[in-house]
Amino acid sequence: MSLRHQYNSSKGLVKRRTNYGLRAKWLTLCIILFAIELVIVYFRIHDVILVISLHLNIKLDWIRGLETNCDAASDQNLFNYANPLLPTGEDTSPIPLCPDSPPYLLGKQDLGNENEDVDMNSLIKNYTHVQAGGRYQPKECTARHKVAIIVPHRNRERHLRQFLRAIHPMMERQQADYGVFVIHQTGTGTFNKAKLLNIGYTEALKEDNYDCFIFHDVDLLAEDDRNLYRCADVPRHLSVGIDKWDYQLPYDALFGGVIAMTKEQFNRVNGYSNEYWGWGAEDDDMYVRILHSCLGLERAQYDVAKYRMAYHPSDKSNRVNPYRYTLLVGAAERQRRDGLNNLHYSVVDNKRMPLYTNITADVGKPPLNPKTNSFGNGIDIVVSISLLVLMLTMTCCTCVKSRLPHVLLCPRRIP
Ligand SMILES: *[C@@H]1O[C@H](CO)[C@@H](O)[C@H](O)[C@H]1NC(C)=O
Ligand SMILES: *[C@@H]1O[C@H](CO)[C@@H](O)[C@H](O)[C@H]1NC(C)=O
Repeated sequence: MSLRHQYNSSKGLVKRRTNYGLRAKWLTLCIILFAIELVIVYFRIHDVILVISLHLNIKLDWIRGLETNCDAASDQNLFNYANPLLPTGEDTSPIPLCPDSPPYLLGKQDLGNENEDVDMNSLIKNYTHVQAGGRYQPKECTARHKVAIIVPHRNRERHLRQFLRAIHPMMERQQADYGVFVIHQTGTGTFNKAKLLNIGYTEALKEDNYDCFIFHDVDLLAEDDRNLYRCADVPRHLSVGIDKWDYQLPYDALFGGVIAMTKEQFNRVNGYSNEYWGWGAEDDDMYVRILHSCLGLERAQYDVAKYRMAYHPSDKSNRVNPYRYTLLVGAAERQRRDGLNNLHYSVVDNKRMPLYTNITADVGKPPLNPKTNSFGNGIDIVVSISLLVLMLTMTCCTCVKSRLPHVLLCPRRIP
């Protein structure tokens, strides 16, 4: 107190003395904050750090560590910008298997004018090779996979027509045996994209024995047909470069947009979570699921995996989900009980249109209290990234105010 008094009355010499001393009040606060942080991290040790790294774009070796801890997969698979690996199929049919590299590829695709409104009737007339329901098989060879392209949709007809115009000729050049499934959410309730993807998977399997699934945003158009829509022995991320983000991944762990997973891989992770109502984080949840299932993942080849994203104004019924980080933090915990094994919906309509199968589904309503729904085990702490960042900032500030870094790093110069 006397030091402080002197400081107030005669600055200068005394000020220098206090500068190099440790300030007990601030140090205590710093320790308390640090302890709170430890508790937060202790209860959600993996996923809290994961959430931070996902959204602050911090590159952590720890994420790779998760992969190396797995018995089945090696860390080589993570962030591996490699060529797609093709599982070798047995050649049992009289028609030979299609070659690894399709001979008809043209490279960069003509995607047309961004603002053009594609005429559906003219498109149907042009694409006579596409069968009802948006199906196609190459005649000259047997494709190695049966590919289902799953597109969640609502009120995006204009983008859907542009998507259909681009996807069909590309898949034909890739010699793919495929079907396009547009999963339309009925009504005006909160959009649930992840659930629509689960529904698409389930309904496509009722139509045919698909073994490879491409989960595709309707507003992404592939710019290059050398980006093969195929599955591999690990889940694949196809939309690596998007024009909106200068063809760079906005964060390392991004696993949304366009992804390719086999039936076995999708089953193993229990599909997508059904609990993400509104916009955001359902793809990060899938990333957590894949890591915790030891599947590994790979990115498509960077120089061909390029996409154009269609502009759209924000959608009123697809608002940012305020619970997305809370849900994400509990992603691994929910994985076993939330996904394909608790998927409830009803199909309102199932129509084979000329260029796609239109499956209209009722996904239900979000629960009234999604917060309590996401944590069943009593630890109802809303651990959001902002909280943790706030704690970290506060700890650092108080630590600096207590002069601890100074005392530790600089020699004590109190006369
Ligand atoms: C259909 O083909 C014609 C002739 O090639 C072309 O002019 C027209 O734009 C095509 N329609 C669509 C919707 O792409
Ligand atoms: C799909 O079918 C539903 C119900 O019949 C309809 O409301 C919707 O507009 C259709 N969507 C598309 C893209 O065809």
